[in-house]
Order: sequence, then C-alpha cells, then structure tokens
Amino acid sequence: MMQVFMILPTTESVLMGQQKAKVNIFRSAGEMELASALEIVRIMKIAVEERGVGQMGLSGGETPRSVYKLLGSQPLRSQVHWEKVHLFFSDERMVPPDDAGSNYRMVEQELLSAVDIPPANVHRIKGEFEPGIAAKEYDRELSKMFPNGRTEFDLMLLGLGGDGHTASLFPGTAALSEDRAFATSLFVPHLGNWRVTLTYRSINSARAILFLVSGRQKSKIVRQIFDANEPSMTLPATCVRPTHGSISWFFDEEAAALINP
Ligand code: 6PG
Repeated sequence: MMQVFMILPTTESVLMGQQKAKVNIFRSAGEMELASALEIVRIMKIAVEERGVGQMGLSGGETPRSVYKLLGSQPLRSQVHWEKVHLFFSDERMVPPDDAGSNYRMVEQELLSAVDIPPANVHRIKGEFEPGIAAKEYDRELSKMFPNGRTEFDLMLLGLGGDGHTASLFPGTAALSEDRAFATSLFVPHLGNWRVTLTYRSINSARAILFLVSGRQKSKIVRQIFDANEPSMTLPATCVRPTHGSISWFFDEEAAALINP
C-alpha cells in the first residue's frame, strides 16, 4: 500500500525585485525534500508527455542529495521514463568523477546508479579536464542539445550558498558577466579551486527554475536575497531571472525563518 504523503506547505507568490516567485515553506527538511522530488517527477512527466523528452539541470552540493535518492527509489523511480530524460549539471568542481567532491559522483551514487537512464543522456562536466577545456566541451554539448540557441531546460535545480552564490556563480567572479557562452570556467579564490558553471544566459532560459534551500544556516542569506529590490552581482542568486519561465523556492521552516510572516 503506497503511503500517501500529505504535505501542506505555506505557499505564496511574492515579488522578488519585480519578478514573481512562488515560495513554498515546509515544516521540515524531509518534507521539503519529498515535495521537491514529487515536483520534479510532475515536471518531467509533463515534459516527456508534451515534447517527448525531459531535460533537467541538476544542482550540486548537499541539499539535493536526499531528493536525488528519493527520485532513485520506489515509488518515484518508476514514475519517470528515464530513457526519455536528459540530465545536465548546474556546475562542477574540477576534480575527477570519482572524487568525493564531485557533483557528478554524488548524483551517480544517489540517482544514476538506481535508474535506467542511457549513459548518453547524462551530460557530465568533465571535472578531470583542464577547466577551460571542460567549459568549452560542455558549452559545445549544450549547443548540440539545444540547437535553437536557448538552453530551455524543462527544470533547472539550484541551491543557495551562504554568500548568495548559486551553481558556481560566486560573487566577484568573471563568470557573473559571461553573457555569450552557456558555460564557463572560473577560479574561486576563497575556495582555492576551479569550477565550471552554467552562466546566467543558460540558467535563465529554463522553463522552470527551482531553488532548494534548507537549514537554519541559510536563513540570513535567504532574507538578504528576498530583501533585495533588484538583481545584484554581490548576491548572484538575485540575478537568476527566468526570461520566460517560472521560478519557485522550496524551503524548510528553518531556512525561511526570517522571511516567513
Ligand atoms: C555546488 C553547488 C552549489 C550549491 C550551494 C549550496 O557545487 O556546491 O552547485 O551552488 O548548490 O553551494 O550547497 P549546499 O546544498 O551543500 O548547502
């Protein structure tokens, strides 16, 4: 008997710097993660039904780990036609794919190892390459997969860092102003390492953008993002503004503590 989860978030449409965003606040990280997985399944099913293919950009970091695990487990695993889904990455640390810091490795462990997705449908950023070469190779792959020049991901999953970064669009880096390529490489001084990231041009072309944020440690940056009246490169997540798609935030109560009325 499949368990029916009643998840009753606080849902509001808010104006964030003149753009409308849907905010969902869940009682716990667990409920937020389950609701996120259900939303991903919903969007991917519609994409496959309407266009024959679902194209999703996956965020790295720790927040989405449990969501990917849910997607790779029953009952959700069998609700997606994985053979018709293409997976991309919002960004990657420049390490080999079997390195503990690799976003690909995390996704492989939690999701790819559990679903029948053709390897050719997984568009990995080659962390083992020299950063500039990896970025160019990923950019070419995106151009091939989106020949009309717009990376219209059906869903782009994003996280939020404590400094307001998202993907690997970190404050004060040249990646923020890259407006031609779909992907670029950058050195992150305070981390002392290289990254490859999708650019705003690529992220903002998505049909749907979904931020997943949980934990009390994110409450201050969430407040700063939501207080921003306009996009600011000092808070890179505020520059995520879909050109024609939607933007939603999935929070647990802890992360939303300072914006929740
Ligand atoms: C990465 C991510 C990054 C992440 C945020 C939040 O490669 O780390 O793409 O943008 O989403 O840093 O990370 P947590 O989910 O671990 O807090």
